Amino acid sequence: MSQNQIPELSGFGGDDLDAAFAKIVDEVQDSSTNLTDDEAVEQFRLHWLGRKQGRLKAISDAWLKSAPADAKKHIGQRFNKLKEEIDRRLESAGNVGISRAQLAAEAIDVTLPGLRRPLGAEHPLIKTMNEIVSVFQAMGYSVGVGPEVETDYYNFESLNFPPNHPARDTQDTLVIANQERKPLRDRLLMRTHTSPVQIRTMERQPPPVQIVIPGKVHRNDAADATHSPIFHQVEGLCVGPKITFSDLKGTLDHAMKAFFGSSVKTRFFPSFFPFTEPSADVQISCIFCGGTGCRKCKHSGWIELLGCGMVDPAVFALVQAKQPGYDPKKVSGFAFGMGVERIAMMKYGISEIGQLYSGDMRFLEQFA
Ligand code: PHE
Repeated sequence: MSQNQIPELSGFGGDDLDAAFAKIVDEVQDSSTNLTDDEAVEQFRLHWLGRKQGRLKAISDAWLKSAPADAKKHIGQRFNKLKEEIDRRLESAGNVGISRAQLAAEAIDVTLPGLRRPLGAEHPLIKTMNEIVSVFQAMGYSVGVGPEVETDYYNFESLNFPPNHPARDTQDTLVIANQERKPLRDRLLMRTHTSPVQIRTMERQPPPVQIVIPGKVHRNDAADATHSPIFHQVEGLCVGPKITFSDLKGTLDHAMKAFFGSSVKTRFFPSFFPFTEPSADVQISCIFCGGTGCRKCKHSGWIELLGCGMVDPAVFALVQAKQPGYDPKKVSGFAFGMGVERIAMMKYGISEIGQLYSGDMRFLEQFA
């Protein structure tokens, strides 16, 4: 195929243009009679569509660029038809303009070994959380969740933290901006504990309940080796007729033994939470030294692990408005809450809480 000169247009009238383009279409036809192999197709493509030397570009340069403004549209329309004609021929030759070399480069070598995806593993934090949850599931507890963005009512007021109560200060709360115009109880904040889900659960279902609630909580704590402003808790709630402090002790003692091993002992210390009365902190015998005293337990033999207590009748009284079954004269219950990071760090001997959030594979692989 020779690079013929582009004939000059005899004029810009419709007939002139039709005649000129018809000649080129004939040319396209002639040059496409023998497109039987890739080589020929590629030649045809280059001859017509080549970006620098292609005939289509030459035609555009010769006819379109120099045409008077009002003829451009008419030439352009015919030009597009011509381009379609060339494309059609390329397509029917079974090739849309990919050269053999290109095809070879893009071909898939089915004999190559596949890409192996490394097997994933549960994150040590999530693994710990799931293990804690399943200890309680085995005792007949169900599992629930609740929102991380909470109202002041559920995070505090319904749990017997009245406005301005000093107990609120123990939970450095991150509040959502621009809530000042709402009544206090409706203002949004990041939940500081999973306890609001106790209330949400009781409002939804009549007693008895036995539920554990794993989840993320937020506090305005400075990050250090053992603190993070975002961490995880597992909450528990058990309500029914005649639930006693002995049930609480037995349940948590069993749970700690199931989780850490049967030789672990528990002891309960008086504590304070506005929504439980009486309240207790639970310690377990040091899992590192077995209770004889070591650096990990600060030579006390005990490690403090969770907070708990009997649900305060004042909490039931508030829930009662929505679920009459929670009559403090007829039901009693206990609740507990524990920090998952602390437990995971103890269990796996992790000294920096930040490692749990680093996403560092060298760290995570150790738990796979
Ligand atoms: N919500 C309490 C806290 O985060 C823990 C707790 C839960 C205490 C349930 C008693 C009962 O500090």
